[in-house]
Amino acid sequence: MLKIQEFSKCYFVKNYWDFLLVAECGMMKIIKVKDNEELSLKALEIVLDVMNSHETPVLGLATGSSPQLMYRYLVDKYRQKEISFANTITFNLDEYVGLSPENAFSYHYYMNENLFDKVDMAEDNIHIPNGLAENLKMECNRFEAEIKKHGPIHLQILGVGLNGHIGFNEPGTSFESRTHIATLEESTRQANSRFFSSIDEVPKEALTMGIGTIMEAEQIVLLVQGEHKKAILHEIVHGEVSEQVPASVLQLHPNALVITDLDV
Ligand code: F6R
Repeated sequence: MLKIQEFSKCYFVKNYWDFLLVAECGMMKIIKVKDNEELSLKALEIVLDVMNSHETPVLGLATGSSPQLMYRYLVDKYRQKEISFANTITFNLDEYVGLSPENAFSYHYYMNENLFDKVDMAEDNIHIPNGLAENLKMECNRFEAEIKKHGPIHLQILGVGLNGHIGFNEPGTSFESRTHIATLEESTRQANSRFFSSIDEVPKEALTMGIGTIMEAEQIVLLVQGEHKKAILHEIVHGEVSEQVPASVLQLHPNALVITDLDV
């Protein structure tokens, strides 16, 4: 059984002149699930809904552990001929600088392995920042222009880091940021080293959609699973909206949903 809690709050945000302004009345929906399986099935349901209600669905995708089982379920649906990705356009949140799509640690490789190679996605409809681009700044601008051309993103899937990062937007990143080159915090490199043979192999930089870019998605679903994320989830949902906790910005999004197996 799914439990839905709704939180409605008003925020006071300090502007540059130190006046207090009412910035937004936000509402963040939370769906409490019992485990990763239920979390992934719920996320699957939302993705299918978006895919079925648009002629050309535009999905924003994440990598990492959080969405992995949801991708497996999506592949199952494709194999059961219940969905096609032929008209779907995707934008991935991020990619490590210096890793090629053939590198088993790259996010491009992850996406091919977990979804793209197993369904009927058209190559041209896949957008992942190119971490090997000669001019990384130009690559960020190109990626941002592609989102503008095909957007808005109908549904953005997010996971969250232990420090509250979304994409590779580490604490302190401007809420107005667009796709940019990000320097990874040591704690992020440490956390992600579980996917690499050693921490020395984890790149120090990545290209990431900015927080401003992410917030332009029509709908956002944040997947949060596991006791180790309890403290950060509490801050995201109940704490103040602060650039020190990047995911707290979701409190300001009109259509953001958290699916979690944690009590918040
Ligand atoms: C991945 C991404 C990251 C992850 C976050 C959580 O594309 O943008 O923000 O979502 O680091 O990772 P997991 O899901 O592995 O705990």
